[in-house]
Amino acid sequence: MSQTNTAPLRQRALLTDEQLAHLPTHHPLKTAQTGESAMIRTLTGRSADHSPVWFMRQAGRSLPEYRQIREGIPMLDSCLNPELAAEITLQPVRRHGVDAAIFFSDIVIPMKLAGVGVDIVPGRGPVLDAPVRTLEDIKNLPELEDSALDPIRQAVALTVEQLGSTPLIGFAGAPFTVAAYMVEGGPSRDHLRPRTMMHANPEAWEALGQWAARTSAQFLAAQIEAGASAVQLFDSWAGSLGQADYRRFVQPHSAATLAAIEHYGVPRIHFGTGTAELLPAMLEAGADVIGVDYRLSLSEAQRRLGGGIVLQGNIDPALLASGWDALAAHTDSVLEEGRCAPAHVVNLGHGVPPTTDPTVLTRLVEYIHTQTRKAS
Ligand code: CP3
Repeated sequence: MSQTNTAPLRQRALLTDEQLAHLPTHHPLKTAQTGESAMIRTLTGRSADHSPVWFMRQAGRSLPEYRQIREGIPMLDSCLNPELAAEITLQPVRRHGVDAAIFFSDIVIPMKLAGVGVDIVPGRGPVLDAPVRTLEDIKNLPELEDSALDPIRQAVALTVEQLGSTPLIGFAGAPFTVAAYMVEGGPSRDHLRPRTMMHANPEAWEALGQWAARTSAQFLAAQIEAGASAVQLFDSWAGSLGQADYRRFVQPHSAATLAAIEHYGVPRIHFGTGTAELLPAMLEAGADVIGVDYRLSLSEAQRRLGGGIVLQGNIDPALLASGWDALAAHTDSVLEEGRCAPAHVVNLGHGVPPTTDPTVLTRLVEYIHTQTRKAS
C-alpha cells in the first residue's frame, strides 16, 4: 500500500511580486495589504503576532442578525443579491472579530448561474430539478458564461471595500462534492450513485468531473479577481471515497480546479471531512494548506502529510455546546497540536452548527487570540 509518509511535497513561495502581477491593481493584497494580516501571513507559512481564526459557516443561522435579514428571502436569491451577500459576509466579522471573512454564497451557485435547475431546500440542502445521470445528460449541461458571474464579482467587491485589511476567503465546491449532488439530485448519506457511476460509466463520470472542475475554477477566479485574498476548496463528501477511487476518479479534477487558479498566487486551502486516508492525495492535488476535520489530530494529520505543511483546523463543533471549560480545554489541545505545523490557522473541524450560541463563538475568538498572542 502507498499509504505511508511521503517526503514534504513542496513549500511553495507565495505572494511573490511575480505572482501578484496576475492580480488587478485594485486587489486588496496590493492596496489594503491583506498579505500582511495574521491570516495570510499564516496561510503562507510566515509567523504572525497571533494565530488567526475563522469558522466555516460563520455566516449563517447561528446569528440572529442573519436570520432577521434573510427573513422571506430564499437562500439562492440572497446569494445573488450583491448588497445582501456582502452584508451577510460581514456580519460575523463585526460580531466575532474573526481574522477573515468567508464569502457568503453556496457551492451550487455556479451551476445555478450556468442555468441548471437547482434550489436549496431549507433543512435539507441542494436539490436539482432533474438529476444528471447519463452521458447524454452531461453533454446537455449548459456552460457557465463568464458574465453570469457578475453578481458574484459585485458582491465580492462590495465586501472587500468594507473589510479593509481583513482578508476575504473565496470558495468553491470541489468537483466530487458538486458532482455528488448533481448525480444524486439532492443530498445523500453515502453518495452511492456517483460512486457507482465512476465504475459503471467512467466516460460519463469523466465528462461530469471536467464540467464541475471548470465551473468551480471559474467561480474561484471571479472571486479572486474581484478581491478574495485566499480560497478554500470544499470537498465535504470526499470522505465517502476510498483512496484508490479518490486518486483515480477525483484527484485529477480537484487538481484541475486548483491548477487553474495557481497563477494568481493566493493561498489555496483544501478541506474535506472524513479524509484521514486521503490527506496526502488531497495535498498532491495542489493545495497550499490542508484543512483537517475534527476526527484526526493535527499531529497525526501532519505525520500522514509527511511534515512541513501549514494546517487549518480542527476544533470539534460538538464542543461549542459542551460548556466553556470543556471547550477551552479542547481548544488548548488543538492549539498545542497546531505546533506540529510551520503555521496554524484555527478553525472548526466542520461548520458552525445552526444551534450554536453566538456569544460562545465571540468568546472563543478572544480566547484563541489571547492564548496565542506573542509578546512584542
Ligand atoms: O460562513 C459560511 O461558511 C458561509 C458561506 C457558505 C454557505 N455554504 C452558506 C449556506 C459556504 C462556504 C457553503 C458551502 C457549502 N454549501 C458546502 C460546503 C461546506 C460544508 O458545509 O461542508 C456544502 C456541502 C453546501 C451545500 C449546502 N447548502 C447545504 C448542505 C446547506 C444546508 C441546508 C440546510 O438548510 O441545512 C446549504 C444551505 C446553506 N448554505 C446555508 C448557508 C448559510 C443555510 C441556508 C439557510 O440559512 O436557510
